[in-house]
This record gives sequence, structure tokens and C-alpha cells, in this order.
Amino acid sequence: MRHSYGSSPALAGVDLAVPAGQSVAVTGRSGSGKTTLLYCLAGIVRPTSGSVHVGGENIVGLDDAEASRMRATKLGFVFQFGELVAELDLRENVALPLRLAGVRRRAARARTDDVLRRLDIADVAERRPGEVSGGQAQRAAVGRALVHRPGLVLADEPTGSLDSANRDIVLRALLSLASDVGSAVVLVTHEAAVARHCARRVELVDGQVAGDVERTAG
Ligand SMILES: Nc1ncnc2c1ncn2[C@@H]1O[C@H](COP(=O)(O)OP(=O)(O)OP(=O)(O)O)[C@@H](O)[C@H]1O
Ligand SMILES: [Mg+2]
Repeated sequence: MRHSYGSSPALAGVDLAVPAGQSVAVTGRSGSGKTTLLYCLAGIVRPTSGSVHVGGENIVGLDDAEASRMRATKLGFVFQFGELVAELDLRENVALPLRLAGVRRRAARARTDDVLRRLDIADVAERRPGEVSGGQAQRAAVGRALVHRPGLVLADEPTGSLDSANRDIVLRALLSLASDVGSAVVLVTHEAAVARHCARRVELVDGQVAGDVERTAG
């Protein structure tokens, strides 16, 4: 896959396959193409050339409505600052993807409460994002990314706004919930301490894969 904004290449031939359930950290210097890669995987940016297959479907061929549907059903997102809806409480925020998917209220409630419990934020589920700690809010963002059991979760510096203790709590929550649900995770980060949580590390240099290392088990 290649992508250029105007004349300068941001991705210069990236060939990457992420097996179901795998967690991959994408690292690299500022400007190396990490966010561009994530956006191409999400169908938000259409690569200049190449294809992107998510769950057997080439998303480069989708129109905008189809791409939105694919994102809503097959993907989950976590961003640096959570991006929760300020007017909704944590439970309502986590439940959003299920509401969008038309899951019935009672089934959605059961699934949402299960996720809140696993993330250890059930006790603050009725509070709004502004009324909880940064770590709790970010765990709710993790819940929202996984509640609909997407095949792939895309995370861009998901713990960039947290201290190291909360960083590790949120990452463990993200990766264990993803593993329970069977979701693959592609996580962009500057920090080696974050990358270490993932089973595989892919390093980008100038829009190309310069390193690809799988952690050996144990
Ligand atoms: N919308 C855009 N228009 C033009 N150029 C862009 C745009 N977005 C990114 N670029 C350029 O593409 C290259 C890759 O950018 P990208 O945002 O993917 O980097 P990154 O690795 O995510 O960096 P950072 O760690 O700072 O977030 C950079 O040279 C950047 O300047
Ligand atoms: Mg970026």
C-alpha cells in the first residue's frame, strides 16, 4: 500500500498482514506515517495505490456509506483523549456502538454492564466523562471500542495522556478485553513501554516498514 498527500509520500510501500486476534504496536518517529497507516486501515484515508482487506473485504473499493458501515460494525477506535461524548454517562458512552448497530436495549445493557465490570468502572458508570479520572475515562473509551466485538481495534496513542500507572492499567484492560473478544489490535505509540505490551512490534521509518519483530512467548 502507498499513500501520498500531494507529491510527498507518507506511506512508501507498506505490506502488512495482521492475523485475527494479534496485537501489534506500530512505532516510529513523528512524521513516519503511523497515523496515515491507521487511517488507511480504517478506510478514512484512501491509499493512493494498493488494497486494504479487513475481514476478507477490500475496503478501498467501498463508497463512503459502505465504509461508514464497515467502521461501525468491524472496527473499534481508541484515541489519545478518549473522545467520549461529554453529555452521556460512561455506560451510555460504552453502549453507543451497540445502539448504532441496532442491538436491542436489554441485550445491549447486559453486554455493556459486562464490559464495565471487566474494566472495573461499573461503580462510576452513571458519571459523565468530566466527573471521573483520566484513567477511568480512558477505560470507558476502551469499552466503547470493544463492546460490539469488532474484528480489529485501531488505537492512536491510547495512553498518551495518562501517567505510567494508569497507562499500564488501561493497556492491560485493552489487551485482555481484546483477547477475550478475539479482536486484533493495531496500536500506534511513541513509547517503548507501551509497545512492550503488544505481541508484535512494527517500526516505520519514512513510510516504510523498517522492523517487524514478534515477541517470543513466555
Ligand atoms: N493531511 C495531510 N496533508 C498533508 N500531509 C500530511 C497530512 N497528514 C500527514 N501528512 C504528512 O505525511 C507524513 C506522515 O504523517 P503521519 O501523520 O502519518 O505521521 P505520524 O507517524 O503519525 O506522526 P506523529 O507521531 O507526529 O503523529 C508526514 O510527513 C506528514 O507531514
Ligand atoms: Mg500520528
